Amino acid sequence: MPGPGDLEVSRRGVLVAGAASAALTAVPAASAQGAPLPAPTMLPVTLEVNGQRRELTLDTRTTLLDALREHLKLNGSKKGCDHGQCGACTVLVNGTRINSCLTLAVMHQGDKVTTIEGLGRPGALHPMQAAFVKHDGYQCGYCTPGQICSAVAVLDEIRKGVPSHATADITRRSPLDATEMRERMSGNICRCGAYSNIVDAMTDVAGGRA
Ligand code: FES
Ligand code: FES
Repeated sequence: MPGPGDLEVSRRGVLVAGAASAALTAVPAASAQGAPLPAPTMLPVTLEVNGQRRELTLDTRTTLLDALREHLKLNGSKKGCDHGQCGACTVLVNGTRINSCLTLAVMHQGDKVTTIEGLGRPGALHPMQAAFVKHDGYQCGYCTPGQICSAVAVLDEIRKGVPSHATADITRRSPLDATEMRERMSGNICRCGAYSNIVDAMTDVAGGRA
């Protein structure tokens, strides 16, 4: 049976052990704070952006979105969330839509990148851009470049027979209908709620009745 003194020793021992443990965990944290950060690694990357060859030397941590906006000054693609949740940064890479905030620029050596600036321009709009104007597919416009790039790719995906979660029979081509369009556009968030007008614009371009 331990006596009162033994208990006291034990309590003191526990306190000493706890303090030592705290000190041990604090040491690496302090070292990490004081350690110099590694120098950025710079690499050359060549992209074909909107039909133009663009050569850059980038910190390997640069996202494709930042390469477009900060280095090439193509700020049509928007940074809404910067972590893949809003779709405002959607661009086409080799014809496929991606969230440019979720991919590093150096991963796209030689790729063909199309941004909203490359789809059309004032006086020569892409049919999807013209349809967004015609159907009021936007209000503030912040999400619109991503919505339009995504919408162009969505119609292409449906035409190629790529199924979606809304496709009832994946052995058959998906219909070009509002259900498919809404499902496929669900990664593009519009804070202004222009969703039904966006589907109208897409339906118009697809050749249906809005
Ligand atoms: Fe890329 Fe939101 S900024 S998904
Ligand atoms: Fe404003 Fe979509 S038009 S967020």
